[in-house]
Amino acid sequence: MRRRGFDLRRPGRRRWLSSGWIWFLLIGLGSLLFLLLVTTQEKTPRSRPLIVQNSFTSSFPGDLNVTDELLNPLSVTRQLLDQISLAKTYLVISKENNNLEFARELGGQVRNCQSLLATAATRGYPLSVEESEATIRGMALLLYQAQQLHYDGAITITKMKGQLQTLEEKSKLETDKSSKFGQIAAEELPKSLYCLGIKLTMEWFKNLHRYRRAVEARTSSEKLRNNNLYHYCIFSDNILAASVVVNSTVTNSKHPDLLVFHVVTDEVNYTPMRAWFSMNKFQDATIEVQKFEDFTWLNASYVPILKQLKESDTQSFYFSGKGNSKTPIKFRNPKYLSMLNHLRFYMPEVFPALHKVVFLDDDVVVQKDLSELFSINLNGNVIGAVETCMETFHRFHKYLNFSHPLIKAHFDPDDCGWAFGMNVIDLREWKKKNVTGNYHYWQERNVDHTLWKLGTLPPGLLAFYGMVERLDAKWHVLGLGYKEVEQSAIKEGAVLHYNGNMKPWLKIGMEKYKILWDKYVDYSHPLLQRIIAGAKAYAVLGIQSHR
Ligand SMILES: *[C@@H]1O[C@H](CO)[C@@H](O)[C@H](O)[C@H]1NC(C)=O
Ligand SMILES: *[C@@H]1O[C@H](CO)[C@@H](O)[C@H](O)[C@H]1NC(C)=O
Ligand SMILES: *[C@@H]1O[C@H](CO)[C@@H](O)[C@H](O)[C@H]1NC(C)=O
Ligand SMILES: *[C@@H]1O[C@H](CO)[C@@H](O)[C@H](O)[C@H]1NC(C)=O
Ligand SMILES: *[C@@H]1O[C@H](CO)[C@@H](O)[C@H](O)[C@H]1NC(C)=O
Repeated sequence: MRRRGFDLRRPGRRRWLSSGWIWFLLIGLGSLLFLLLVTTQEKTPRSRPLIVQNSFTSSFPGDLNVTDELLNPLSVTRQLLDQISLAKTYLVISKENNNLEFARELGGQVRNCQSLLATAATRGYPLSVEESEATIRGMALLLYQAQQLHYDGAITITKMKGQLQTLEEKSKLETDKSSKFGQIAAEELPKSLYCLGIKLTMEWFKNLHRYRRAVEARTSSEKLRNNNLYHYCIFSDNILAASVVVNSTVTNSKHPDLLVFHVVTDEVNYTPMRAWFSMNKFQDATIEVQKFEDFTWLNASYVPILKQLKESDTQSFYFSGKGNSKTPIKFRNPKYLSMLNHLRFYMPEVFPALHKVVFLDDDVVVQKDLSELFSINLNGNVIGAVETCMETFHRFHKYLNFSHPLIKAHFDPDDCGWAFGMNVIDLREWKKKNVTGNYHYWQERNVDHTLWKLGTLPPGLLAFYGMVERLDAKWHVLGLGYKEVEQSAIKEGAVLHYNGNMKPWLKIGMEKYKILWDKYVDYSHPLLQRIIAGAKAYAVLGIQSHR
């Protein structure tokens, strides 16, 4: 998932960019374009290099090339158009549900977005992130509310999560403008992915009985609790990504019939996820889909992060933007933002009957048979992980606040960091060693965000402290979403991890690494074919209605 591995990304990016010539090129290009713009128009927005580059393709007033704009995943215009189309859908639904006030609010936001687009169209150069941010944010919150109002029963939305993520990362990265910009771009889920959820939901309801039977046949299976089998868990709200993880694991397995996948998703993605996994066959593997809303133990009296989210300080920490004060608090509860991520700290609760599981992030692709992982001796440790301190950045001091006495007293700043994304987990040791209790202890002390800011790796380092078994680096190759990775490491790697912004399912994914992931997507699948065709039609329509 996009939010994870965030901490791992920056040093690599820094190193990557600091190869002198790239900087030279960027600065050169930037200043050239800036000069060009200054001479062609007066009101040039002071934007970052990528935006400037964007403007360059259409630097003559009145001649904005909308095709370019729409094809560009970094474009604010595209983001706005996506939001408008979503909002219009919700508008219809909320009217049907007789929630006229909400419909009016949606209508108002749609007009705001449209007037921004009109501004860009008349002046002839694209919108900058700065001038659009408030509008995009306002709309994102409203769309999020729509989701919370359960207007998504029949249609499915993953779109707004991206924007909420941007908010989360924004608080973390106020100083790091360029990363923030990358984040916005990366989280702009392509239109096609959002359509997939809708199409799948429609398909599910059309063939309800058939799919239900398929699911029931699979979930009632003894296999789900059989500890002689290989159990994998994936916590994801991204159907295509989860599909690739399952498919690549199965495809490279010597005994697919011994594999059991436990997919946990959220309410919104539950139906389409079930539809996808019941309409496609993944050899003889067993696949279970659950939603975390069904876990009754996951409540504010047990889970500190849920309790904290109810408190006002945390609310404003997550939603620090201006102009949101009109939005009722109950609609701003960002638990969906992080709950799928924080589930990794509740493995024994999620899988009470299992002894050992392999945890896979949804932004990985598997290239080898993984069964050997289950027989690795963890030497009494709880979690097996690949260490990341070969790169000097990835030590404890990078993730934790060592000015805080509590951190200083318990940990060494030079302790070696490790990575989530492919981990072997011994659930019996976990219970014995009270890992969830540790996690609660630290999470409760981080109410004011002084121990660490955001993410799951810092609390992970604390909760599993002294219980981590080092795995051979070939098991988990990191960095495919943000840097150049050595060819030999990729070839040897059992699990490749696209941590970073350039996810393989996004247009900005690095082409040479995308191929490794694309292999496990069946692009000839009738549903995907329809969606790809639809996306093309959408682009054409977009041009016609906005020229
Ligand atoms: C806009 O850009 C696209 C793709 O770069 C190009 O094919 C098209 O001819 C351009 N249209 C105009 C009006 O310049
Ligand atoms: C909340 O979770 C705790 C511990 O998992 C459980 O004992 C309790 O019954 C739950 N409360 C509700 C209201 O479900
Ligand atoms: C687990 O850890 C928590 C927090 O440190 C502690 O309060 C609790 O008593 C521990 N439980 C056991 C069984 O050791
Ligand atoms: C680190 O901890 C110290 C001591 O509690 C605190 O004053 C400081 O603000 C913290 N730093 C950050 C970045 O939160
Ligand atoms: C899974 O991957 C295989 C092999 O790359 C591919 O042929 C197949 O179509 C994929 N299946 C699905 C459901 O994506």
